[in-house]
Amino acid sequence: MLDGKHGKGVAYAMKIQVAIGESFDAKRMVPITRAHVALSNQEADIWFAEKLLEGGARCRIAPTVNPGFSLSYFKSRGLVSLENAAMMQRTHDAYQKLGAVLSYNCTPYVMTNVPRFGEIVAFSESSATPYINSVWGARSNREGANSALCAAITGFVPEYGLLLDENRFGDILVEVQATMDSDFKYHLLGYMGKKIGEGIPVFTGLPDHIGSEALTNLGAQLNTSGAYGMYHIVGFTPEAPTLEAAFGGREPARRVVITDKDLDEILEEISLDGRKPVDYAMFGCPHYTLDQVRHIAGRLENKILKRPMYILVSSHVLEMAERMALTAILEKAGAELIADTCPDQPCWEHLRGKTGITDSPKMAYYPKRRGMEFIVRDLDSCIDAALTGEVRQNG
Ligand code: F3S
Repeated sequence: MLDGKHGKGVAYAMKIQVAIGESFDAKRMVPITRAHVALSNQEADIWFAEKLLEGGARCRIAPTVNPGFSLSYFKSRGLVSLENAAMMQRTHDAYQKLGAVLSYNCTPYVMTNVPRFGEIVAFSESSATPYINSVWGARSNREGANSALCAAITGFVPEYGLLLDENRFGDILVEVQATMDSDFKYHLLGYMGKKIGEGIPVFTGLPDHIGSEALTNLGAQLNTSGAYGMYHIVGFTPEAPTLEAAFGGREPARRVVITDKDLDEILEEISLDGRKPVDYAMFGCPHYTLDQVRHIAGRLENKILKRPMYILVSSHVLEMAERMALTAILEKAGAELIADTCPDQPCWEHLRGKTGITDSPKMAYYPKRRGMEFIVRDLDSCIDAALTGEVRQNG
């Protein structure tokens, strides 16, 4: 591949991967069986994808891809400029020709692209890499969108980092003393990256059962507040049946305690002042599951929202919600279910300068650069705020 026998595009992808491997002292390349590419629908990303395409590259492993924005939804409502719509169309065309699975969803690991224990894969996307390493016990480094695309094209990755047993043990013991009684608390726990510090965290003190939404939130926020490829939860994640197994028999390099006060303080730090009037609510960063959509529909049945509500989901969840008549309930209340779309996209220009409310610190973080700012609260408080136009105090 490196010598160009498979074409220029493949040689280019392999050259990049060999350089990555050399920089991490990898000894060999190993085959992958899955990939997820966090495409970003931005100039540099499209330039790179088109360059590989022009060189004749095609994906040997068809990767799922991240959301951009739904062309049909935003174009039909006149909410995107011609220039931005053209950019999304170019992204679509390039990845279609490369042979990607055009899923436009950032939580493939719960539904459409689920690896098994020990499987070697190449996943980019902040919530995806920790989920597949920690929860499924699959193996991927924190790929970037470009390195994951190269891996999808060549079908190989350099073997280093989290692909090797010795790098998968915990470094930091994180004793959670906070009350972890909602999925929202996992958003806040994940946002403690600064306090947790560098390395692989090993959590203790968490409940016996943790749902996939909570685990999604934990991984997404760990990588918003820091850089984490995996974590362990003792007695819960597959590589941490015991504390000793999680640390590989070594002593933790650091110990950290997380209390309710820590979570309260981080919420205060990341949220806009909750006394501001709310202009809209937005959920689904990472994309919401069908259960989360069902919960909102249950809360909104026979009610009318005072403020618009946008719920971002995968096309699969959208289809299921339509079949189950959840979409009808939501639309009647004034809420919209939108597939294929990320909050950090140019399709939200109409929300610039307005005050949103969300349950996701990640949503409050990235789209700031687009003038979208958020009050952060738990889901039920956000729903109440969209029903009344204001945040219940102490909620
Ligand atoms: Fe997904 Fe975009 Fe949030 S990719 S996690 S919806 S920033």
